[in-house]
Amino acid sequence: MELVVHKSGDEVAAAAATLVAESIAATEGRFSLGLAGGTTPENTYQRLRELDVEWSQVDAWLGDERWVSPDSNRSNGHAAWTTLFGATTAAMHRPEWGQGIEPDDSAAGYGRLLRRIHAEKPGPDLVLLGLGADGHTASLFPGSKALGESHHWYVANEIPETHEMRLTATYPFFATAALIVFLVVGRAKAPALRDSLQQATPAGKVESALGHVLWCVDEEAASLVD
Ligand code: 6PG
Repeated sequence: MELVVHKSGDEVAAAAATLVAESIAATEGRFSLGLAGGTTPENTYQRLRELDVEWSQVDAWLGDERWVSPDSNRSNGHAAWTTLFGATTAAMHRPEWGQGIEPDDSAAGYGRLLRRIHAEKPGPDLVLLGLGADGHTASLFPGSKALGESHHWYVANEIPETHEMRLTATYPFFATAALIVFLVVGRAKAPALRDSLQQATPAGKVESALGHVLWCVDEEAASLVD
């Protein structure tokens, strides 16, 4: 685990965008990129628009998705598409949603798609993740069922407090990644970051195959880290 503290959220976004672009440039063949949801990564996606990236080699997929219409402004896929990926030649893979499709079936189908995308490699090349103030990441929320998933790469998962339905990548899938980069900005995340660095939150329990998890944070988020 590595912690890098930047002066500001803008510097976090610039560093993350450069890391993604350089990782893609250094990779022969297909590049699997996991996308964080929420608002923090938008700055990184906007900066990636300004960089010279061979997007045609990229398979982009969602670390999690809300169970909403694909064109909802609450959809992580919609946000990533409108902020960046709709303007690139990357292959953007999104879970199925629609009349008569159940969350469990959509998650299972997406999991099968992810296994096809990664058939020639152990797992993702780079996964971007965010951190919730309660210590969740993707849609691995405290007390939720998906925390105990030990096989499937993607599952439907209800948020215990709100009963909102989500789809999320799981610990077994994250464990196959070469590199996981958490993007954490702002004082509101400081307690969750401190606890995550002590593996005391769902986010803190994310590991990657090669053991490389990078926490890319700003000074405000790191204000409670010793
Ligand atoms: C989601 C995200 C979630 C997010 C954190 C942080 O669907 O909401 O995947 O895990 O990364 O909640 O969100 P913010 O970046 O908006 O603070």
